This record gives sequence, C-alpha cells and structure tokens, in this order.
Amino acid sequence: MPTRVQPCQISYEKFSDTHSELIKSFQNQESDLVAFLCEDAFENQKRGVSVTYLFFIEENGARNLAGYITLLSDSIEIRQNKCLQTAFESKSIGYKTLPALKIGRIATDTRFQRRGIATAMVKFAISIALDTSVIVGCRFLIVDAKEAAEDFYLKNGFRLLKEDCLKPKQLYLDLFIN
Ligand SMILES: CC(C)(COP(=O)(O)OP(=O)(O)OC[C@H]1O[C@@H](n2cnc3c(N)ncnc32)[C@H](O)[C@@H]1OP(=O)(O)O)[C@@H](O)C(=O)NCCC(=O)NCCS
Repeated sequence: MPTRVQPCQISYEKFSDTHSELIKSFQNQESDLVAFLCEDAFENQKRGVSVTYLFFIEENGARNLAGYITLLSDSIEIRQNKCLQTAFESKSIGYKTLPALKIGRIATDTRFQRRGIATAMVKFAISIALDTSVIVGCRFLIVDAKEAAEDFYLKNGFRLLKEDCLKPKQLYLDLFIN
C-alpha cells in the first residue's frame, strides 16, 4: 500500500513557461493527458481558455512533479437532473443553466498514484470554486469523467448529473450542500 502524502509535503504552482523542461518528465497511463500538458496547456492558458496548476510532493529532500489539474469556467443544464431541477424550482430559481467550475483535466504521475495527490487537487479546485462564487457566482464543480476515474470522483463527493450510458459521464459536486 503506497504511503499517503501529508498536506505539508504538497505544494502547487500555476503553470508557466519556467516549467517547460520539468513537465517533460511527467508520466501517466493516459497518453492524451501527457500530451495535453506538454503541448496544449500553456497555449490554452495564454488564450484564456483554461488554467493549469502543477502539484509537487516534497520527500527525501527532493521536490517532484506529482500531478496537474486544469480548470475552466462552464455551466450545467439543470433539467438534466430531476432532483436538482426540483430543488432549484422550489426556491424559485428557474434558470436553464447554472454556473460551474470545470475540471478540464486531472492526472497524477503514475509513480505517485494512490497517495492522495488527486484528492488534494480536487480539494484545491473546490477552494477555487468557492472563492470564485464570492466574486462572480459559481454553484458547482463539474467534470466529464473518464470511466476508469469514476470511482475516484464518487469517493470525493461527486454525483452523476444524468443516469445514462453516455461516455464520458458528467459528474457534479454541489458547492453549497457539501
Ligand atoms: C484518477 C487519478 C487522477 C487518481 O489519482 P490519485 O492521485 O492516484 O488519487 P488518490 O490517491 O487521491 O485516490 C483517492 C481514492 O480514489 C480512489 N481511486 C483513485 N484512483 C482510482 C482508480 N484508478 N480506480 C478506482 N479508484 C481510484 C481510491 O479509492 C483512492 O483511495 P485509496 O487509494 O485509499 O483506495 C489517477 O489514477 C490518474 O491520473 N488516472 C489517469 C488519468 C485520469 O483518468 N484522469 C481523470 C480524467 S477525468
């Protein structure tokens, strides 16, 4: 069983051009997530499309790149989920869509998986979403989940937006309930 990392061992930095060499060492079983980090993340950030944060683990005197998370603005269609629709309508909130922060990409380096890094990255995303909600309104954290990562999200408090077999599945976390 891999050792869990302590919060004091984890740090993060917003992705910048100073990281261009460092990210070449990143490994993950999903090649599209490695390619995104190396080829698209910085360009997307410069164009205001998404922002990527790199997460590091400090141990044995070394600071290693352990994961990354990419965030962007989005919204969800409330009518896709009857429970949500009913809950908002009962409060006289009848908008078709509500604002959300989306996890566009999330990946932990294969050498650091099952140690709590992605859980720490989700907690970070929740704190950004809550900060955002104070400034411009943001009700949910959402993600289009790869099948292999669904259990990870469910364990972290996300719920299925719609019970269907569409892939990827849209999951949401209500920031004002949890
Ligand atoms: C999904 C992913 C980001 C999880 O990263 P991680 O840092 O290993 O996650 P954590 O250590 O915080 O996991 C917390 C819990 O989530 C669950 N979990 C994590 N990875 C899981 C997996 N692959 N399958 C099932 N459950 C998983 C476990 O219950 C785990 O707790 P445990 O280790 O005590 O059993 C990582 O496996 C990954 O990079 N996968 C490939 C990329 C990917 O699918 N990204 C998501 C795109 S939507």
